[in-house]
Amino acid sequence: MLVLGIETSCDETAVALYDTDRGLCGQSIYSQTELHEQYGGVVPELASRDHVQKLVPLIRQTLSQTQFKLRDVHSIAYTSGPGLMGALLVGASIGRSLAWALNIPAMGVHHMEAHLLAPLLDQIPPDFPFVALLVSGGHTQLMFVRAIGDYSLLGQSLDDAAGEAFDKTANVLGLSYPGGPEIARAAITGDPSKFKLPRPMTDRPGLDFSFSGLKTAVKLEVEKRLPLSPESLADIAASFESAVVDTLVIKCQRAIAKTKAKSLVIAGGVAANKTLREKAQTLDCQVFFPPDDLCTDNGAMVAFAGHQRLTAGVSDSLAIDVRPRWDLARLDPV
Ligand code: KG4
Ligand code: ZN
Repeated sequence: MLVLGIETSCDETAVALYDTDRGLCGQSIYSQTELHEQYGGVVPELASRDHVQKLVPLIRQTLSQTQFKLRDVHSIAYTSGPGLMGALLVGASIGRSLAWALNIPAMGVHHMEAHLLAPLLDQIPPDFPFVALLVSGGHTQLMFVRAIGDYSLLGQSLDDAAGEAFDKTANVLGLSYPGGPEIARAAITGDPSKFKLPRPMTDRPGLDFSFSGLKTAVKLEVEKRLPLSPESLADIAASFESAVVDTLVIKCQRAIAKTKAKSLVIAGGVAANKTLREKAQTLDCQVFFPPDDLCTDNGAMVAFAGHQRLTAGVSDSLAIDVRPRWDLARLDPV
């Protein structure tokens, strides 16, 4: 089955073709980073308008990378939530309309399930059951994954998501959006032990997270040192990165101990972070990350997640439905 995957939930317009026999056949991503950079974060209305302009050319471009024509596509998977309402509606409307015109099935994919399943696209995928740490701009969740679609929430952030903490802290440091890669870059020459920042909620039992206090702790340190020297900037960035990574890894270790799972998947935009990737290797289990280019938002993960359900005979009605909020634990098992 050849599936066309469409991702428009936030600030990346992304398209991919995934085939049962051939695997990932082609993909294109257009990032709106430059459009939103001057505002320090994503402006929803600008995001939607840009998706409208970019999506159809990107579908054409992706098809042209392969030997396939539009009529070869068997089904369509588009992100239908969670995400920005207007942005989701662009992918859902175009995905649904194409499916109707081609008379093929289509279905809405849960964006975080797509992130969670991305490591299954790799040569050596994890075996079920496993623990998944989902760390993106909007979510920080620890899930127990029994099978595709069979998820239980173990813990989640009570305030900012890990990616959001990177983005907001970058803003405090005068770095641009998105903050994760900027902080990681600034941290390379810094000393992670220079500033004693908290590892929030690790001093008590449980698997929930809280990152908003970390950003405030950084803000207080910055205010004492203005104007920031390049050395202080690097040290604060490294200390912040290390605090977030330590916190995530401590909670992962707890989740592994609690569930007795043998494997851990770390996925979502923050999974691109090199310090997190290194530190996670010290954990007492096998750790799986998506391939580097499939950590942040992409169409391949949406095509693949949709493929798992569409090949099981599941598809959605003709209605154009999106779900800006959508609980991952409520999905149906495949
Ligand atoms: O999954 P994603 O592309 O979009 C959402 O679904 O939100 O995640 C984007 C988030 C942003 O907050 C970005 O700052 C963060 O992932 N991010 C990183 C890195 N690359 C992206 N955070 C830390 N280190 C990175 N290298
Ligand atoms: Zn994402």
